[in-house]
Amino acid sequence: MDADVLTPDFATYPWIPLDRVGFAPPTVVVGWADGTSLDCHALWLYENTVAIDPVTREATVDPGDLPAAEFLTSAERRADGALLLGWADGRESVAHPGWLSSIARGEHVPSFVPGPQEVWTSQLGEPPTFDGTHVLDDDDVLDAWLGAMCSFGIARLRGTRADRTLLEELAYRIGPVRGSNFGGIFTVEAKLDADSTANTGLNLGQHTDLPTRETPPGFQFLHCVENTVAGGASRMTDGLAVVAELAASHPDEYAALTTLQWVFANRAKDGDHRWIGPIINHGAPSSPLTLRAFYPVRLAPHMPSGEVERAYAALRVFSRVAHDPRLMIRNRFEPGDLVGFDNRRVLHGRDEFDSGGGHRVLMGCYIDRDDVFSRLRVLRRTGEAGDRHRRAKAADETKEEQAT
Ligand SMILES: [Fe+2]
Repeated sequence: MDADVLTPDFATYPWIPLDRVGFAPPTVVVGWADGTSLDCHALWLYENTVAIDPVTREATVDPGDLPAAEFLTSAERRADGALLLGWADGRESVAHPGWLSSIARGEHVPSFVPGPQEVWTSQLGEPPTFDGTHVLDDDDVLDAWLGAMCSFGIARLRGTRADRTLLEELAYRIGPVRGSNFGGIFTVEAKLDADSTANTGLNLGQHTDLPTRETPPGFQFLHCVENTVAGGASRMTDGLAVVAELAASHPDEYAALTTLQWVFANRAKDGDHRWIGPIINHGAPSSPLTLRAFYPVRLAPHMPSGEVERAYAALRVFSRVAHDPRLMIRNRFEPGDLVGFDNRRVLHGRDEFDSGGGHRVLMGCYIDRDDVFSRLRVLRRTGEAGDRHRRAKAADETKEEQAT
């Protein structure tokens, strides 16, 4: 076994020897003992074995400079189970069979991590919750929490250090903070000169933040450092459940919500962000759901005037479903609680509270989905977390096979 075979990335793969190799130019067909197989085009193998830069692990050959597929002259199983390739100029290259296996199993596609989404309703009760005492230095805690956040769209840490600097420390352990007109790390607390409805004691209807952006922030994090007010409970609703309910029970309103567009505009004194979109945006195939649901910044209908009545009627139904107690969970923030949620999927809101009767201080920030997923992939590249994830996925697949 040659564990030093270069792969076109920085992951560590188990050595899964090839069971068979067939070559029908320009395609090499490799297979494993468990019955899986993979078709590999000669030029794809060239790019990912001959042409890998050993430092960046990226392909180095411009497509215009690639050889003809006939440049691959032989493909065989090496004694240790690797794929041995012979090229017309006499060179040989080797493909790692564990890496090829990961491609055959679809582990390279973007959706493999974060994995499937779990749709939830009020029966969830509490967000998936993890002990946050050691999250700053324990990768297993970070892995478990981020993993649940990606699946459920929400997950909570309890028992973190309840001060105003913890969130920033944790955020940079995940990825770059995405700034906004609220700054990088922002504070949510009742203020006399509020720059947002969030910074009052008012009830906040179920919403998603910053629909005024072409791509609204992916994940939002809220860390409670102080909460002595009565009321002010946090409310969360899974947008996937809302969309499913609308599609099933209110098809006309669902059609209006997915097609009729609005102009969203930020109204800060020193900013002017604008975007147009429907309330429910499914986007292109394989792109995530984006809900644009924040009435304080919904500026104007961008549709024929004859459609506006229908658009408002649909908004009314959207709001009713988004606040339906059968779908929503309601939880009080305790100092040390840190909740992360998918801002484009999960609607969040807040009960009103009396800002004169105590303090409610949350620190907040955004981190884009790309960066959360990237962190999770890196955590799962090697070591126990990666092995655990692979074992869990294998167990799920076994369960599915048994069920079908
Ligand atoms: Fe918000």
